[in-house]
Amino acid sequence: MGKVKALTCPACQKAVPPAERRFLCPDCGMVLDVQVDLGHLSADYQDKLLRRHDPTIWKWHEFYPVEDLSSIVSLGEGYTPLVHTEALARATGLERLYVKNDTLLPTGSLKDRSNSVGISKAKEWGVGTAAVVSTGNAAASVAAYAAVAGLHAVVIISAQTSPQKVAQAAVYGARIIPVDGSYDQVAAVFRAASEEFGWYECLSTNPYRLEGKKSYAFEVWEQLDGEVPEWMIHCTAGGAGVVAASKGFKELKGLGWVERLPRMVAAQAEACAPVVRAFERNADEVAPVEAGQTIAECIRVGKPSVTATRALREVKASGGAAVAVSDDEIRATQSLLARTTGIFGEPGGVVSVAAALKLKAQGAIKPEDLVVCTVSGHGLKQIDVLDPSRAVSRPIPATLGALRERLKEAAD
Ligand SMILES: Cc1ncc(COP(=O)(O)O)c(C=O)c1O
Ligand SMILES: [Zn+2]
Repeated sequence: MGKVKALTCPACQKAVPPAERRFLCPDCGMVLDVQVDLGHLSADYQDKLLRRHDPTIWKWHEFYPVEDLSSIVSLGEGYTPLVHTEALARATGLERLYVKNDTLLPTGSLKDRSNSVGISKAKEWGVGTAAVVSTGNAAASVAAYAAVAGLHAVVIISAQTSPQKVAQAAVYGARIIPVDGSYDQVAAVFRAASEEFGWYECLSTNPYRLEGKKSYAFEVWEQLDGEVPEWMIHCTAGGAGVVAASKGFKELKGLGWVERLPRMVAAQAEACAPVVRAFERNADEVAPVEAGQTIAECIRVGKPSVTATRALREVKASGGAAVAVSDDEIRATQSLLARTTGIFGEPGGVVSVAAALKLKAQGAIKPEDLVVCTVSGHGLKQIDVLDPSRAVSRPIPATLGALRERLKEAAD
């Protein structure tokens, strides 16, 4: 079982004893980094690990900061398909474009990777209430994992959130409190409440929770038979995916299991792209932006936590990029993916693939590069944005004649 050696600050290097149960550096406010002891994993351990029959992220349990296996709360998350189709390769001109289909996770989004680890840690610590403020997907995920773990869940969401996501969180029995305002306004209320009530926070500032997204590195590496992608592209809001996937690859490199690291890419929506703006300015920190309107609801975060700054630094250090795409590009990509791979992603969950297309058009990604895009949320979570031209037309009378007429119309 992975053992937490230390919590260290990636910005000022301060070491914080794990027993203090802190999430942020007391000196500079950066999210702490959990150091899991991997020293005992020898070269032949790799074979032992890969032979394990566990189709969840916990196949790699040594790498996660949960000391007691009996605390693990798993709903079968992980090992989602890494999809490659000829049709997608042809349509994009990227011969080796793979899509990590996280729409198939238990609650339909990438949040299950991190919450499985975060809620397991909460159970190990014996906390009573897990809380989250969410653009929608984390709400359902925290609600599900907390329910199975026997914890109370408090879920605070913007009243503007898609009703499908709210209904999904409610079904797990969480205490759901919709608040008027944008995600960024609602998040400010959450922070004040969390301080008052002492909740266990399931946010991108919870370093234990972040560890769960290291699973991207482990699974992708295994599914590519030991190859490391040239590009790993994440749909980005808080930046947890970029930070943790990068960390996972670094741990593999530290063990000598891989020789190089991928270029990390943060993909965002044009109307709300704080990480991209900071990257374009060559800044070292992410500054807040006004969240404009976009259909990419799940990643519409204008004032992300300090984890986004960590993501920016990973992107830059890896030689990657931060790329913003328009709503038109998102719609086109949603449709392209559905038709070429059968994967139906929500708008914010397909910006990774739209970003790959943009980087290819700019000449940064070459047609033969090995590219992995995570498609991070299911399209059924946000159906109100579907292109009206794709909507089903008005019903016809139940006669063969009417059907003939309608088929003729479509063919015209
Ligand atoms: C579907 C989806 N993709 C991506 C993200 C962004 O996550 P991250 O914190 O890894 O940037 C979110 C939530 O914020 C999400 O719901
Ligand atoms: Zn610090």
